[in-house]
Parts: sequence; C-alpha cells; structure tokens
Amino acid sequence: PRKIIIDTDPGQDDAVAILLALASPDELALLGITTVAGNVPLDLTTRNARMVCELANRTGTRIFAGCDRPMNRRLVTAEYVHGKTGLDGPTLPEPTMPVEDTHAVDFLVATLRAEPEKTVTLCPLGPLTNIATALERAPDIAARIQEIVLMGGAYFEVGNVTPAAEFNIYVDPHAADIVFRSGVPLTVMPLDVTHKALVTKARNDAFRAIGTRVGTAVAQMTDFFERFDIAKYGSEGAPLHDPCVIGYLLAPHLFSGRHINVMVETRSELTLGMTVADWWGVTDRVPNATFMGDIDSEHFFRLLTDRLARL
Ligand code: BDR
Ligand code: CA
Repeated sequence: PRKIIIDTDPGQDDAVAILLALASPDELALLGITTVAGNVPLDLTTRNARMVCELANRTGTRIFAGCDRPMNRRLVTAEYVHGKTGLDGPTLPEPTMPVEDTHAVDFLVATLRAEPEKTVTLCPLGPLTNIATALERAPDIAARIQEIVLMGGAYFEVGNVTPAAEFNIYVDPHAADIVFRSGVPLTVMPLDVTHKALVTKARNDAFRAIGTRVGTAVAQMTDFFERFDIAKYGSEGAPLHDPCVIGYLLAPHLFSGRHINVMVETRSELTLGMTVADWWGVTDRVPNATFMGDIDSEHFFRLLTDRLARL
C-alpha cells in the first residue's frame, strides 16, 4: 500500500475523507493524521479527528496536533459552514483515544527523513500551515516527498470564501505560496472538481442505506452542511470537497486535469489567496501542479459508498 499522511481540519468533508482512507487499507497505509486550525480552531479539529477514528473503530491511528494559526495572519474559521463544533450533524461520543505528544510538524519532518525517499504522499485537506512550516524548518524534506495531493484553490469556479479565493488557500496564503513554490510534485483538487462531486439526495440516501453507524453518521454529516451549501450554490447537492483527494489516490482514472503553472496571491487585499492558474498556457511560467478539472462523480460516489460500507 501507498504510505500517506492526512493533514486535516475536520470538517464533515474531511471526516468522510479520513473514513474513506481508513476503509482502504489494501491501497493506503495511513502513517498518521496531522491536524491544523482551519474550519474551526485546533482543539476542535483535533477532537474531531479522534472522534472520526473512534467512529471507524481505528483507535490505533496516530493523531498529531499541529499549528493553531496561520503563518502570517489571524485565523479565519468557517463555523457558518460546519457548525459550532466543526462536525455538527451526528451525535458522536466525546473521544477518549490519545493525541500523540509530538507536534505535527516534527512528526512530518521525522517521518519524511526516516522513510525511504519518495515513498510518502502528503494529503492536505485544510490550510497548508503544517506542511509549509515543515518545509521551511527542514528544506531537505522537499526532495523526499513522493507527492502532495491536496484540496484547495479554484480557477473557473474562483472563490467560495471571497469572490477570488477558496477557503483552504485563503486561510493561509503564505503557507500555500511556500507549497506551490516547493518543487514537490503537486496534484490539486480545486473547486472546479469538488463542485462536481455533489451529495444529491439519492447519494445521501445511499450513505444512510448502508445501515451501519458509519453510514448513518456520514449521512448526518452530509445532511448538515448541505443545508448551507445547496442554498448558497443553488445546486442539486453540496460539494464533497476533501474526499476527492483520497478518491484520486484510489482511482486516479476518475479524474482529469492539466499540468500547469499555479501561483498564489499573497499581497492583494482584494484577491488574497487566489490561485492564479495558467490553464490556457498564456505565460511561460514553468508548470508546478496538476490542476484537476473533471471527475466521474457517478463512479466516485459508488466507490465511496462501497468503501464506507466496509467500516
Ligand atoms: C475546503 O474548505 C473547508 O471548509 C472544507 O473542509 C474543504 O477542505 C473547501 O473550500
Ligand atoms: Ca477541510
């Protein structure tokens, strides 16, 4: 199996991504989960990551708490999307499994140095603060990362938190800038993809029909943030952003995109956190990321539902 580290700010869609990874041990070896401040503050994202692992009965999963605020500015959260706890919807018990003593950034650096070169893939599902801090502190790890597959950014779909920016990039644009300039192979799931991965009523029913604790909880999670998103986008369901990252690792043929140059705006007040993606190749800037643009959402949801049923 491919070795991965999930860096996350759960978040209902983060939670579903974690569950999908936990349900796929033949393909993915989850070395650890690192948490970051994003959708809600760090203490809550760490609590939520623990609750999700307990929901899946995977209390042996190692969880490391990371940075509690962006590198260079105040934390912006999204309780208006995810609820007060960040994981509103299901009623899950308070977690009892431990958090590791090691800081997430130290875990990232130590793991990348200890594992053979280019055998560990990072899967960031929130602001890129932990990843960028690790790259700054230990520049040697850049050459050791196999790939970073992240959810963030947008090009035609532009912004969801400001008219220009997607939430994960907007919260810590300086961190995103470091990651996009790092030279590490990047695969990006922007809003252009995730806004095609919609939890329709039928797909939500399919989660519930699994009939397990996990199936019911996922149905309740996706029900919760649907209320907000359907009204916002006027679509037939809410976008299920973060699971696209894990879906890509399991079934890359369900996604298509382009290898292009992407830069992050870090200065402008108006467009802070915008991912300036050279989709049409109008500059001679060197490509640094594979920006996905399309997803076979029918097969993606079938895969997701089948896997969740295994937990
Ligand atoms: C991203 O922002 C968060 O609210 C979601 O968990 C996802 O990672 C979408 O813009
Ligand atoms: Ca997230």
